[in-house]
Amino acid sequence: MTNRIVVVANRLPLRRTEDGWETSPGGLVSAVAPFIQEQGGSWVGWTGVPDDAPPPFVHDGIEQRPVRLTQADIDDFYLGCSNGTIWPLYHDAIRPPEFHRHWWYPYVAVNRRFAEQAAEALRPGDLAWVHDYQLQLVPGMLRRMRPDVRIGFFLHIPFPPVEILARLPWRRELLEGLLGADVVAFQTRLGRHNFSRAALRFLGGEGTTRWLGAGDRTVRLMSAPISIDTRRYASLAASHGVGERVAALRDELGTDRKVVLGVDRLDYTKGIDVRLRAFDTLLQRHREQADDVVFLQVAVPSREGVGDYAAMREEVEGLVGRINGSHGELHHMPVHYRYGSLDPEELIAYYRLADVMCVTPFRDGMNLVAKEYVATRPGNSGALVLSEFAGAAQELRQALLVNPYDVDGVADVLWRALHLPPGEERARMQALRRQVQRHDVFRWALSCIEAIRH
Ligand code: G6P
Repeated sequence: MTNRIVVVANRLPLRRTEDGWETSPGGLVSAVAPFIQEQGGSWVGWTGVPDDAPPPFVHDGIEQRPVRLTQADIDDFYLGCSNGTIWPLYHDAIRPPEFHRHWWYPYVAVNRRFAEQAAEALRPGDLAWVHDYQLQLVPGMLRRMRPDVRIGFFLHIPFPPVEILARLPWRRELLEGLLGADVVAFQTRLGRHNFSRAALRFLGGEGTTRWLGAGDRTVRLMSAPISIDTRRYASLAASHGVGERVAALRDELGTDRKVVLGVDRLDYTKGIDVRLRAFDTLLQRHREQADDVVFLQVAVPSREGVGDYAAMREEVEGLVGRINGSHGELHHMPVHYRYGSLDPEELIAYYRLADVMCVTPFRDGMNLVAKEYVATRPGNSGALVLSEFAGAAQELRQALLVNPYDVDGVADVLWRALHLPPGEERARMQALRRQVQRHDVFRWALSCIEAIRH
């Protein structure tokens, strides 16, 4: 393999520290970094800070090319069109998307800025790999600027059914933008099928669910479920430091209590409210058991400038208060809630502690938390309750699958998860672990890069 890779993503894989930069943890960077470090390459993205665009520099063996976003771009391109229009629309419109031209024009302008940076970074023979819903126009723009390079696009979130995409005033522009790539990849088969149907409906032309014609080119469609660095999670889970932290947490929470865990960005798509309601239902049905179980919910702050996120935070925190108010005792609160992020070791200690992991999104592109939990269960104990509307449910078939629209049903499954016969628990977890061991993020990256190259 000899091609350099230029990744184009909304965010650089970095955050600022007091005296420089550090790599922010994330599946994508851990998967792509080894390829770039070996063959060379660049990463085009935003630092996360308004007006912050230092000249290109090398960090961790990767050329970093910051793209400037002004405060107005953050308001209109990032919080507006990306997260107020496209994000809710692509997640089954579970919150009403807003359609504004004064968000759309900045989306076009910022996509052009990313494409220009990428065009500058690309040398002849390089591959461009564009990521996610914030940058759907980049492949088309880049194709016009650099017809000589191969371009791939990966969508991390779901691609919606045609009836939902139809609402978007700029549906044709987005579809044409994506078809500027040589390969357009989705998390699941469903996403690929939805995209193909939408392109044939709104753009006409020829194609199937595996390829589409675009002028004189053929665009390949693929599904490639993203994954995690499974070995890294497993080895951290087995480390001494994590073991000590698990023991300390157990002492704090009560050694005999079963632990149910939720870990999510605080996002209305994640169904944090559903699982709390289900837990409340379970405690109402089994009051005598309120002392035997504890629910830990970690909610990582996200997109706080979008109204629906602030509203969801209020709702979740109201539910936590209500459940503890109804079922708590002086010596025991059934829900422990934390609004903030955990460092990686602490997070893995939480995973190890959890008897039941609860992942209940209304719609999710993949959901890596589900895979991370599975990777950190060396003894094959623990149960995964997983929404059938997460991309991960296509692979993690031995999870206890739930419909998050059915709160009573989630409560039933939660109860079942807490009382799984040990033989069944082990058999399910063993099968789940095998799946994430075989399909890790390196395999995912390699399959995407190979597809873009050919
Ligand atoms: C999802 C998206 C990513 C995004 C991440 C964090 O996983 O698919 O593109 O980077 O959420 O969201 P943020 O808005 O903070 O970048």
